[in-house]
Amino acid sequence: MRFARRLGSLGSPLAALLLAGQAVMGINLDINSADSIKNAAATAAYDMMSYYQGNQSGQIPGKLPGTWWEGGAMFMTLIQYWHWTGDPSYNPVTIQGMLWQKGEYNDYMPANWSSYLGNDDQVFWGLAAMTGAELNFPSQPDAPSWLELAQGVFNTQVPRWDPNTCHGGLRWQIFTYQAGYNQKNAISNGGLFQLAARLARYTNNQTYADWAEKIWDWSTSVPLVNINTSTWNIADLVTVESDCQAASDIQWTYNYGTYISGAAYMYNFTNGSQKWKDRLDGLLKPTYSTFFPAQYGGDTMSEVSCEPVNTCDRNMICFKGFLSSWLTFTSLIAPYTYNDILPKLQKSAQAAANSCTGGDDGEHCGISWVENKFDGHSGLEEQMAALSIFSSNMVAFQSKNKAPLTADTGGNSTSNPNAGLGDSSSHEQDGLTKPITAADRAGAGIVTAIFVSGWVGMVSWMVLER
Ligand SMILES: *[C@@H]1O[C@H](CO)[C@@H](O)[C@H](O)[C@H]1NC(C)=O
Ligand SMILES: *[C@@H]1O[C@H](CO)[C@@H](O)[C@H](O)[C@H]1NC(C)=O
Ligand SMILES: *[C@@H]1O[C@H](CO)[C@@H](O)[C@H](O)[C@H]1NC(C)=O
Ligand SMILES: *[C@@H]1O[C@H](CO)[C@@H](O)[C@H](O)[C@H]1NC(C)=O
Ligand SMILES: *[C@@H]1O[C@H](CO)[C@@H](O)[C@H](O)[C@H]1NC(C)=O
Ligand SMILES: *[C@@H]1O[C@H](CO)[C@@H](O)[C@H](O)[C@H]1NC(C)=O
Ligand SMILES: *[C@@H]1O[C@H](CO)[C@@H](O)[C@H](O)[C@H]1NC(C)=O
Repeated sequence: MRFARRLGSLGSPLAALLLAGQAVMGINLDINSADSIKNAAATAAYDMMSYYQGNQSGQIPGKLPGTWWEGGAMFMTLIQYWHWTGDPSYNPVTIQGMLWQKGEYNDYMPANWSSYLGNDDQVFWGLAAMTGAELNFPSQPDAPSWLELAQGVFNTQVPRWDPNTCHGGLRWQIFTYQAGYNQKNAISNGGLFQLAARLARYTNNQTYADWAEKIWDWSTSVPLVNINTSTWNIADLVTVESDCQAASDIQWTYNYGTYISGAAYMYNFTNGSQKWKDRLDGLLKPTYSTFFPAQYGGDTMSEVSCEPVNTCDRNMICFKGFLSSWLTFTSLIAPYTYNDILPKLQKSAQAAANSCTGGDDGEHCGISWVENKFDGHSGLEEQMAALSIFSSNMVAFQSKNKAPLTADTGGNSTSNPNAGLGDSSSHEQDGLTKPITAADRAGAGIVTAIFVSGWVGMVSWMVLER
């Protein structure tokens, strides 16, 4: 396999680019060529990892400056990159970071960061681990399996289910001293919904499927996932004070993506039930019409709530990458969706590649893809989203044997249904509230001041800046 970057290390950058058949500036993507897609992905991955120092001496593996949750998202994207391209270059760094941050109880609640993280932050690491299990991503001898780590996240989140307000739902934050404690948001509930559905399909354990059903039922009983209107609108969050009737309705790709993914896994787990097909179809419709705007041809993805007004923060810049990969796996486990999804992956990748002319090396990608040019913003998050849409396009070449595995179809990740159960510190509602220190209060105050909605990772940012 030829990867632009490997060639790059052999000679001058110009020679490497010529060898790889690329234009001198930017990423010249030919969507019909597997090699071209792999080269684009390799370039995006290399530039993404230029922002990562966690594997250098004196640094903390898996921890990115100013954010904790994005580490999980980054490794998830790298596991998918390996799966689609076969390039193992980043496997060691991924295994190291994923295991370093796994927490003392194998549940992604590591003591350094756990007092400040929300359900959504934790679930991203759980979804990364689940991805490792489903794709038979290599690990390390004596380490807990990827499946076990995903189960640890499930097992610590389920006891946080809160029937005392709004007859159910997962709060955004875990601890009362966090401002987001009084919201129940889509990415936390949709994240656990997706994780439960994937665990059900992988292990064939009905308990996980029951939880997926339960989370779906609750999410649609309040205006978080509103299936009572023809639009199937997913709000960003509902507030506990309003008995979950008042919603913040900002539209984000990843909220739709996580519920779509969960519905697709349940569709597959139930051998193609009409019920889950209807739900999957109901969610795909607004996703296509909202996030693939007609004005750009209807097939190119856009984060419509922040790109047009240039207000995407580092969290939001990542979101398109998640919708990309979740739609891609949906197209394999609900194969009837493939023909609708593929052109959207292809057009989006083409546009993303056209945005990659930034940075000193002239190949860093921008935030917006629909503009088909670099929009002046570059960073790890831009690279992560571009990497995801590039890798995803390999689905057109090898879809037959690339679907996520299950324990019955070759997945060999060891199950431990009791993972994480020893972690008594991870649960507010047992009355095990952590002591609130002055620093926590200061932190919570800042959260309130800059709180908008649906942000993850903000809190670890404050831990670091303090
Ligand atoms: C850290 O990971 C990068 C890949 O992102 C690799 O090139 C580099 O050699 C690693 N450094 C150390 C010290 O292991
Ligand atoms: C926790 O913080 C210590 C001190 O900075 C560091 O050495 C360790 O690697 C960190 N562990 C995690 C899981 O972040
Ligand atoms: C949708 O309708 C069902 C059945 O009438 C109801 O239980 C549920 O609360 C409604 N959801 C919303 C968001 O209004
Ligand atoms: C799906 O089909 C498999 C194989 O026929 C069967 O074992 C399983 O029980 C079915 N699952 C459901 C939820 O119907
Ligand atoms: C479930 O997923 C597999 C791929 O793992 C796919 O071959 C199968 O067709 C899917 N089932 C349904 C009902 O679509
Ligand atoms: C699972 O299988 C893969 C090859 O498909 C292998 O590399 C890996 O070591 C196996 N993992 C376990 C836990 O047996
Ligand atoms: C199924 O999952 C539940 C919930 O984690 C667990 O209690 C149970 O032991 C699991 N069953 C099997 C057979 O693994």
